[in-house]
Amino acid sequence: MMRARVPLLLLLGILFLASLSVSFGIVHREHQQSQEESDSRGTNNPFYFNSDRFHTLFRNEYGHLRVLQRFDQRSKQIQNLENYRLVEFKSKPNTLLLPHHADADFLLVVLNGRALLTLVNPDGRDSYILEQGHAQKIPAGTIFFLVNPNDNENLRIIKIATPINNPHRFQDFFLSSTEAQQSYLQGFSKNVLEASFDSEFKEINRVLFGEEGQQQQGEESQQEGVIVELEREQIRELIKHAKSSSRRSLSSQDEPFNLRNRKPIYSNKFGRWYEITPEKNPQLRDLDLFISSVDMKEGGLLLPHYNSKAIVILVINEGEANIELVGQREQQQNKLQEEQEESWEVQRYRAELSEDDVFIIPATYPVAINATSNLNFFAFGINAENNQRNFLAGEKDNVIGEIPTEVLDVTFPASGEKVVKLVKKQSDSHFVDAQPEQ
Ligand SMILES: *[C@@H]1O[C@H](CO)[C@@H](O)[C@H](O)[C@H]1NC(C)=O
Repeated sequence: MMRARVPLLLLLGILFLASLSVSFGIVHREHQQSQEESDSRGTNNPFYFNSDRFHTLFRNEYGHLRVLQRFDQRSKQIQNLENYRLVEFKSKPNTLLLPHHADADFLLVVLNGRALLTLVNPDGRDSYILEQGHAQKIPAGTIFFLVNPNDNENLRIIKIATPINNPHRFQDFFLSSTEAQQSYLQGFSKNVLEASFDSEFKEINRVLFGEEGQQQQGEESQQEGVIVELEREQIRELIKHAKSSSRRSLSSQDEPFNLRNRKPIYSNKFGRWYEITPEKNPQLRDLDLFISSVDMKEGGLLLPHYNSKAIVILVINEGEANIELVGQREQQQNKLQEEQEESWEVQRYRAELSEDDVFIIPATYPVAINATSNLNFFAFGINAENNQRNFLAGEKDNVIGEIPTEVLDVTFPASGEKVVKLVKKQSDSHFVDAQPEQ
């Protein structure tokens, strides 16, 4: 028998050992154990963004707009997320986020509640009613506004932003002047405004900026902020002109699409995984994103797997979970050693996730998720086109099961047959019981 090991096989072996050591709880090194202990809350974990890492852009009694800390500031291992930002918007029933545009492309997804989204263009506007799981691209520079038309349900939206002018910064340009910010129209000089609107500056000020006669006429006073209350009457009128995106036949490529009305790609009694990839949707192809929404039952485990090329931004929507991500980090080298070899050791990154938390799964890093309560999470996959999800256990989509026995023979200490038996033992796929009775 040939015992020579080709470097590629060695690599595969390391990857496999990494995944096995995690799923079977074997810890190879003292060091790794202590690292895990210090990280049990995930505070030192560079892939974990506790919900308090969102910075508030705007907040009032009707809702808030928040942006997550820069990914690339948190860890060198995710520098390629430099040009992506995550934005969260929440609003109370019967409210409006005032019209604005931004120097970023957005993909907007409704996580909870219902939204009336209107995109305004020079030749008209499109209004859509979006339900939970609906997604819509908002191209940079498009003026849009968002209504929460429900009477008693809060609206929660998550947006991935790709800034246009700057690698990691983007700005919102609001038409209105409020206590929170100025209308960008106010940036123009008196002369330009007067000539453009063919009106007196005083009049322009009074109509657009509410700066004159504010004391006398209460109704023209400034808004308290960019999220305002709307009368039910006004909402009814706006809804009348909206297209419902719940219709199945989506005629236009530009219309919202529903992540939830397709069949799940994986489904069993422990979980359901909904996904739309760039191959299936032109808006996602444009942005090179995939989106997933995953439900898991308490006590379910999402089997160890990795994404071949997509970097995943995971947002916990409801429930709690423990996540284990496996990477490798450079080992501290003994300076006395003559040979300056690079040496890497397997590193486990753990975190306890709860609502509003964000977790980054770098491409090719194996990951497993244990649902410690009923769980729903949402995910954006960056660099998604032709991404492949390779499972490391379970019956289906298991890449290790595709390695020939002869090669397994020399890859692991046990015989190839024994390895195959072990690898094939798990009869479920994708989602399994997190606490099997032995
Ligand atoms: C999942 O979490 C539960 C609760 O903490 C624990 O009892 C169980 O052993 C975990 N399972 C795995 C596979 O990590």
